[in-house]
Amino acid sequence: MIQKEFKKYVYSPSTTLQEAIHDLYRKKVEICLVCDKKNHLRGILTIGDIKQAILDGFDPDSSVATIMNANFISASVDTNKEELINLSFKNRGYLKGHIKRVPILNKEGVLIGLYVNEKIKDPVLPKSVLITGGAGYVGSILSRKLLNKGYRVTVLDNLSFGSRGIMDLQKKRNFKLIKGDIRNIGELIKGIKSVDCVIHLAGVVGDPASSVNPVYTMETNHFSTKSLIEICRHYQVPRLVFASSCSVYGASSELLTEKSKVRPLSLYAKTKVSSEKFLLSNANSYFHPVILRFGTLYGLSPRMRFDLVVNTMTASAYFKNKIMVNGGSQWRPLLHVNDAAEACVLAVDAPLKKVSGQIFNVGFTGHNFTICQIAKVINKLVKNSKIEEADFVKDRRDYKVSFSKIKKILGFDNPISLQSGIKEILAFFKAGQFKDFRNRRFNNYLTQIRNI
Ligand SMILES: NC(=O)c1ccc[n+]([C@@H]2O[C@H](COP(=O)([O-])OP(=O)(O)OC[C@H]3O[C@@H](n4cnc5c(N)ncnc54)[C@H](O)[C@@H]3O)[C@@H](O)[C@H]2O)c1
Repeated sequence: MIQKEFKKYVYSPSTTLQEAIHDLYRKKVEICLVCDKKNHLRGILTIGDIKQAILDGFDPDSSVATIMNANFISASVDTNKEELINLSFKNRGYLKGHIKRVPILNKEGVLIGLYVNEKIKDPVLPKSVLITGGAGYVGSILSRKLLNKGYRVTVLDNLSFGSRGIMDLQKKRNFKLIKGDIRNIGELIKGIKSVDCVIHLAGVVGDPASSVNPVYTMETNHFSTKSLIEICRHYQVPRLVFASSCSVYGASSELLTEKSKVRPLSLYAKTKVSSEKFLLSNANSYFHPVILRFGTLYGLSPRMRFDLVVNTMTASAYFKNKIMVNGGSQWRPLLHVNDAAEACVLAVDAPLKKVSGQIFNVGFTGHNFTICQIAKVINKLVKNSKIEEADFVKDRRDYKVSFSKIKKILGFDNPISLQSGIKEILAFFKAGQFKDFRNRRFNNYLTQIRNI
């Protein structure tokens, strides 16, 4: 087939590498045909060529003309179909592998069309993701989901809770683990430089763990996010998905939306707010942060946590026949960890214009529960368990959240029910797992204390 509409592939020689790469990403196009004003084809290059040039130290502001391939394969107007097919199978040109599109030039070298060999698959655009904290509770599920979708996944994690969450992934072709610390700029660069998207999950997670060593928390949650942004911008990584938290809302009696005032009550929540601010203030047409404010997570994961309200209450109900309720009237927007990972996938896959610079509360409006309601659900599912009430409340967080934006814009729906999430954990207990649920590796606070 001869394609006469080829404007979207054409770039002027003075287009900068930075402009070209982001335009190619936006249009989901793999090649730049570099033409002068009279449409003479001067050279060809791909997204991969541009990324490599930047890695090799080319200034992102240099022009595409400085790195284009001027010895490209092309066809003349009178080339017959058989020859065109042959040319498309020649794999010396601008892309590794076969050439789906062969430029057709007239006698003056003017581009007049593209021969498209329909039998050759469209070159797959690079789909390579870095997940910081990818060995964690959310990250170990997310890594699996992205690998299953055909992404190349790199995890950068210091393995503070061990590597069990991703152990079996290490044999997979598209998976790479960098055991490293996000506070180390060299390791961040190693992880970021050749990916197309970063999902930033790593950090000291939770109010108690973050209070143990405030300086370490600031380094990990606050300053590392700043470095991450700088490095993404330098290496032209267009999309950064950031795991924030609904705990930025603190305590409030209204139904909270993304427009509500944030009232962080802890250092943890404050570092989430400051990271969100850096991210949004750095957004531009080349850098697109997406902020996901997760609700309160629960459920099974290959890296399990028993310091989250539902998981802890379920374990205590099963192993101790006791469900402790402190206060009980505080609201929590519950979100299954598998649904949280699914929201990250949606944020990676969505067209940039839908998500760029956006904050999304992640959860389901019908899944706001009070602590008392959670206890009652667990009590029903665990025979012989008893609810014990205490009226001291250490944790002042209390928030009920609206999730209509993520449902409307990204179609985030069909939550896993609280009952089935709890039953899944109970099935593991019944099979003899997690008898040591109090072990510090399941608890971020205890792990942090040991690491001091
Ligand atoms: N679990 C929740 O209820 C919840 C709620 C809201 C938001 N979030 C956010 O989601 C993200 C993931 O949380 P999670 O529950 O999976 O936590 P997690 O503690 O299981 O995972 C965090 C991962 O980051 C790694 N990490 C920590 N410090 C690091 C460092 N300095 N360098 C490299 N790696 C480091 C840890 O080893 C761990 O694998 C976090 O950003 C968290 O704030 C979680």
